[in-house]
Amino acid sequence: MTVNKAVIPAAGMGTRFLPATKSMPKEMLPIIDKPVLQYVIEEAVACGITDILVVTGRGKRAIENHFDYNPELEAFLKANGKEDLIDRVRSIADLANIHYVRQKEQRGLGDAIALAHDHVGEEPFAVLLGDTIIQPHDGEQPGLRQLLNVYEKLQGSVVAVHRVPEQWVSRYGIVDGSPLNGNDDLLDLKQLVEKPPVDRAPTNLAIAGRYVFNHQIFDCLKHTGRGVGGEIQLTDAMNLLAGEQKMYALAWQARRFDIGNRLEYVRCFIDFALKREDIADEIRKHIEVLLHV
Ligand code: G1P
Repeated sequence: MTVNKAVIPAAGMGTRFLPATKSMPKEMLPIIDKPVLQYVIEEAVACGITDILVVTGRGKRAIENHFDYNPELEAFLKANGKEDLIDRVRSIADLANIHYVRQKEQRGLGDAIALAHDHVGEEPFAVLLGDTIIQPHDGEQPGLRQLLNVYEKLQGSVVAVHRVPEQWVSRYGIVDGSPLNGNDDLLDLKQLVEKPPVDRAPTNLAIAGRYVFNHQIFDCLKHTGRGVGGEIQLTDAMNLLAGEQKMYALAWQARRFDIGNRLEYVRCFIDFALKREDIADEIRKHIEVLLHV
């Protein structure tokens, strides 16, 4: 089966970015001149997925407005001789076929994914966390495409993981498994645990914000009680799924920016600024002046 649908959870409160997120969704924080969520949707589209369900919540209307037409803005740009910008703002609405469902209560990532069941039905689907930007290394395919390749070959749910410093394991979902056919970067999953204390983490392989699931994950979510933080954790449902069918983890070739984290957000901003032809030279000079190099 091929994957035609993606689900993007974007309902979190963004408390680590207050006060910026008091009236703006964290997924709309810009990296230079594009919101984080647009990078995420562009990644799905680059992988051939255009049926996208965004799980939103209260205070997230800016997301819907961003991926819609804005005739007043277009008229303003035209009247002011800024035609070159019209296509840039209009094409965002044509990027993908975007649907929305609202999570009414903050009951966790697992609960947000469960809300996608009606839309997804009995198909495999991708999940891209709306606050995570994945930047493939030069010459590598988009992050999600690397997972889809594994899914298409093995037809089993697969999650992207990164090796993290030991002191960080309690921030993430951690996976354990055995190398598949001697490949250390592709694991046959045995166990997954959400945010374990350092001394109970089986490995340092942290779930990195991109997943591909068989539809049976929805059954597992129905049987998942509240876990860490009193929330319904996707990782706990995945642990159930791994007990029922083959599941895989891919330690992939990509840089992950966890925008839910202030330091990573700033790193991402600088990284992308230094890759933008229109500003890179000036930014580099500015950093050199600051650092007296
Ligand atoms: C979520 C997941 C966690 C994963 C992380 C990646 O946690 O529950 O398993 O490792 O995203 O960013 P959150 O960051 O929402 O606390």
